[in-house]
Amino acid sequence: MKRKIIKNTALGILVVLALIQFIHPEKNLGESLGANDIQHVINVPEPVMRVLKTSCFDCHSNRTNYPWYNNIQPIAFWMEDHVKEAKKELNFSEFAGYTRKRQLKKMVEIGKEITEEEMPLPSYLIIHRDAVLTTEQAELLKTWAEQSHAELKSRPEESYKSDSTVIRASN
Ligand code: HEC
Repeated sequence: MKRKIIKNTALGILVVLALIQFIHPEKNLGESLGANDIQHVINVPEPVMRVLKTSCFDCHSNRTNYPWYNNIQPIAFWMEDHVKEAKKELNFSEFAGYTRKRQLKKMVEIGKEITEEEMPLPSYLIIHRDAVLTTEQAELLKTWAEQSHAELKSRPEESYKSDSTVIRASN
């Protein structure tokens, strides 16, 4: 009796796994650098951009570099969910369209998340070893975020770019 239940459960799981392979969530395949990306509002030196691209853009931009295993479920679900959540919080492809207040807040958050080693998401780093931040890279990003915060803050409010594209968020 018990063995039968285990067998049926295993079979059930297999069937579900097989069936979900046919579901393909919509992919994040826009442009990472476009009309509203962060470079339109603050200078992003090439070394900083390189780190952002390798370690953050898969989740925090409009374009994800999908590895082959992303075609396997439930990995694709898992990734898509993270990308969706991450972009809601911070999207480097849309950063120039944020309100000044939000941009300032995000610059603070970037420093905080890196210091606390919350970002890049640890579960993502298990596979994406190249996205692990070295001490130098972490320092580079933190310094850049601090300087950008100071720079954005020093600009007069009225010089502030774009209202039309402002993305309003609750946080
Ligand atoms: C695998 C996906 C993934 C990667 C890669 C990633 N993040 Fe995130 N990030 C998330 C998710 C999901 C959230 C929202 C949930 C949370 O805060 O844990 C988030 C939240 C954040 C927040 C919080 C925003 C706020 O205002 O609260 C910041 C800042 C951030 N990430 C910065 C970064 C930086 C900088 C990198 C690269 C060094 C990075 N993240 C890499 C998935 C990712």
